[in-house]
Parts: sequence; C-alpha cells; structure tokens
Amino acid sequence: MNNSIIKGIGYHVPSQVVTNDDLSKIMDTSDEWIQTRSGIKERRWVKEDEAASHLAIEASKKAIMMANVSPEDIDLVVVGTISSDYFFPGVSAQLQAELGLDKIAAFDLKAACSGFVYSLSVADQFLKTGMYKTALVVGAEAQTKFINKSTEGRDIAVLFGDGAGAVILEPGDSHSGVLSTHLHCDGKDLKYLWMEGPGSSGACQINIDNIQQNPSHYEPHMNGKKVFQNAVVRFPEVIQEALDANDLSIDDVALVIPHQANLRIIQAVAKRMNVPVDKFYANLQRYGNTTAASIPIALCEAYNEGKISKGDIIILAAFGAGFTWASAAIKW
Ligand code: COA
Repeated sequence: MNNSIIKGIGYHVPSQVVTNDDLSKIMDTSDEWIQTRSGIKERRWVKEDEAASHLAIEASKKAIMMANVSPEDIDLVVVGTISSDYFFPGVSAQLQAELGLDKIAAFDLKAACSGFVYSLSVADQFLKTGMYKTALVVGAEAQTKFINKSTEGRDIAVLFGDGAGAVILEPGDSHSGVLSTHLHCDGKDLKYLWMEGPGSSGACQINIDNIQQNPSHYEPHMNGKKVFQNAVVRFPEVIQEALDANDLSIDDVALVIPHQANLRIIQAVAKRMNVPVDKFYANLQRYGNTTAASIPIALCEAYNEGKISKGDIIILAAFGAGFTWASAAIKW
C-alpha cells in the first residue's frame, strides 16, 4: 500500500509578541519563573479581531503554494483545533469557503495537543484507501482567547500561545512519506487538563446563571505536575512504538519533532531515551505551547533551518489533554 507524502508545508503566527516581562505587568509572575519552569521566553497572541481561522487560512495558503496544487485538487480538509472561531461549525468549514475549495469533505478533530498528529493519521488513512487524493491537514489555535490572563490563571496563561501550521498530503510510494502513525487516549485522567464549558454537562451549559456562578468553568484548568509526569512517560513510549513498527533505532532518526509544551519535558524525554537533546527540535522558547499547531509550526521551522533533508527519517510525537498521545514516523 502506498504511503502519503507531504508535498507542502506552511505556518503562520500572529504578529503580536508577548514577552514574559509583558505578562509580569498583568499578573504575578516573572521572566525567571517562566523560563526556569518551561523554557518559554515569549509567545504570540491573536488580537481581538483575529481567530483560529485567520491563522489557519494563512498557513494553508503557504502549504498549498509550496505543494503547487490548485485549490480544486484538494478533496479533504482536516483541522486539529480546540479553539475554533465558533462553537460550531468548525474551522474546516471556514477554510473550505475562504480558500474556494470544491464541496469536499471537511471536518475538525478535537484531540487537543495531539490534534495535528491525529489529523495527519486520519488523512493518511483516507489517502491510503484511495477515497481522497489531496488532503489539507491543519493544526490551528487561538487558545489565548480562552485563558484567564490574571494571577488566578497564571499557571496556564504563561504557557500558551497562538498559531497555525498546515501540510498538503498526497499519495506517494511505498518506501517514503508517512510510514506509520500511532494514536492513544486514556480518559481516566481527563480532569488534569480540561476546560468544562461550554458543554452539555449541567453546570457548563451556556446560560447567564451558569456563567455568573461558575465563570471558571469557561477557562482551562491543569494539574501541571500530573501533566508533566504523564508526558515524560508517554512521549518515549509512543516514539519507541514508531521505531519498533518500522524496524528502526533512534540512531536512524534525523530529528524528533515533539509537541512544544515545555523544554523541561523535552529534556526529560531525551534523557529517558538516552538520546542527545539536540535530536529533539524545540522552538517553544518563541511561541510557547500552541496546542495542535505546535508540531506543524515546528516542522516548518526545522525544515526552513535546513534540519530536514530528503530521505531523512523524522518522528512527530504529541501528548496532550485527554490524555491523548500520538506519533508519526515520516521518511522525508
Ligand atoms: N508565575 C509564578 N508563580 C506561579 C506561576 C506563574 N506563572 N504559576 C504557578 N505559580 C506558582 C504556584 O501558585 C505555586 O505556588 P505555591 O507553591 O505557593 O502554591 C508554585 O508556583 C508551583 O511551583 P512549582 O511546584 O515549582 O511548579 P512546577 O515545577 O510544577 O511547574 C509547571 C509548574 C506548570 C510549569 C509544570 O508543572 C509543567 O510544566 N507542567 C506541564 C504543563 C504542560 O506542559 N501542559 C501542557 C501539556 S500539553
């Protein structure tokens, strides 16, 4: 069976740079606290009139241009996001309309920080069966529209940023492209990283009483230590799963592109795997955690910096709310 190949990539981040010092003016935090705990120096925030779809459209245009495909060739759009412009429909519907695509299959996929790898895997399966021929796969987030930007929400507010990344996937051959994907979820710990509302469960339904009585249901909450402890176990597991499935060793891999959550998580994963940390790409220092957008943005920057060459094996690895975790092995 033929693999899917990545024909084009593109990313877009908002122009508004928010440094750690900027944050310390609006909440009780410091550059020292943030950098020591996470490695993050700055992040991008969407402006009031921007939303996830604006970032997704710009990233998609760049991927389409690099792939040199026409919008009418695209027959599948999958968008990983948990911060769509509207509660429904998804960003995918806006992309279909704004990019002038034919009346094709388009849907959003809600797997939090694993959303891009999940979306890539779903698109890959559709291409492998021959149901679709050219897929636009996007990770897009305007997560900072939901965070509590005060001392109360500081544990989350300092970590997250906005952005989008996109790839065009097409059918390739049997020895390059997306070699394998592995997806996982364990919902028993979902309350360690979650946002309750708006939702269909009692206290999260949208009505004036709920919003006034439970405003904190409408912002994300996290048990940082539990997330950290799970992430440093699941990343190595799912990377190893990708290696084993392809009869590879980590030495065969040119670059691991992990979800950009926290530099200390990346360092701990490298240590656990006994691998030099520079095998793991990191750009979270400049963007923070952009949820489903972090891996495609990192993929683009790694490629632009000449860190990925034709024939290289790369591994994408994600971990996030759910908990979900996932990997993709790709021969470039
Ligand atoms: N600035 C200053 N102080 C802060 C703060 C901030 N932005 N956020 C929290 N604190 C305070 C807390 O209130 C707490 O204070 P207390 O001890 O008086 O109660 C203290 O800092 C906690 O510090 P510490 O125990 O050293 O935190 P930590 O080492 O667990 O680091 C995280 C916190 C969130 C950085 C860390 O747990 C983490 O990175 N977890 C993973 C998060 C993640 O990646 N999530 C997304 C996954 S997809």
